Amino acid sequence: MLIPKHIAIIMDGNGRWAKKRGLPRLYGHHAGMKSVREVVRAASDTGIRVLTLYAFSTENWNRPKSEIKGLFNLLKLFIKKELGSLHKNNVKVIIIGRISELPINIVKLVKKATEKTSKNTGMILNIALNYGGRQEIVDAVNEIITEGIYKKVDEKIFEKYLYTTDLPFPDLIIRTSGESRISNFLLWQSAYSEFYTTKTLWPDFKKKNLMEAISDYQKRNRRFGGL
Ligand code: IPE
Ligand code: IPE
Ligand code: MG
Repeated sequence: MLIPKHIAIIMDGNGRWAKKRGLPRLYGHHAGMKSVREVVRAASDTGIRVLTLYAFSTENWNRPKSEIKGLFNLLKLFIKKELGSLHKNNVKVIIIGRISELPINIVKLVKKATEKTSKNTGMILNIALNYGGRQEIVDAVNEIITEGIYKKVDEKIFEKYLYTTDLPFPDLIIRTSGESRISNFLLWQSAYSEFYTTKTLWPDFKKKNLMEAISDYQKRNRRFGGL
């Protein structure tokens, strides 16, 4: 059966997971980090080529400062704790998003992770950080204008200017927590992606859930507009 080459996940529901337990939202994010660890490992073991995780959107800046700070602290913790084993598992870490707008300590740490793993040949772990699909398209347009090489572009040329330049488009996009919206995620790249939504909240999403999503994907008939 066909394994999706590229899976992208909108990890949603951390806050509700915590609320259900009467805990502060950050506990939900902390629990969600454990799902990240398990799902990354499972995806790599399954032979997924690219796993994109939506970690922080350009709209997430609208949250309270304390939550944003907590999220970045968790990201730091995740990289510090996991970089060694990611590297050992031949995972290549890359980042998409407006990285330069992030706090300098995050920029440095993220750079360390991408540099350390840059020569790895296993799964690509693509973290969408301060990522917005509309911003990505605008950034691409501006880069093309600044370069000044083209008077006119086609889709193939345009795609080279997206953050995802060298990546295949996502075959499967998973969203947890029962929401069915794209929330500014991979707008261009998702044109023909298969969607899988589940009521499961992200901190409860584990290897078993990933396998369920993949086997659901395998039952789909992708037509790409053809017959
Ligand atoms: C997803 O969980 C994590 C991020 C957006 C960073 P949420 O924080 O959105 O959780 P809910 O949607 O409020 O439950
Ligand atoms: C999408 O989740 C962003 C991430 C998972 C990082 P949100 O919780 O921010 O999306 P909305 O606000 O419900 O659309
Ligand atoms: Mg949410």
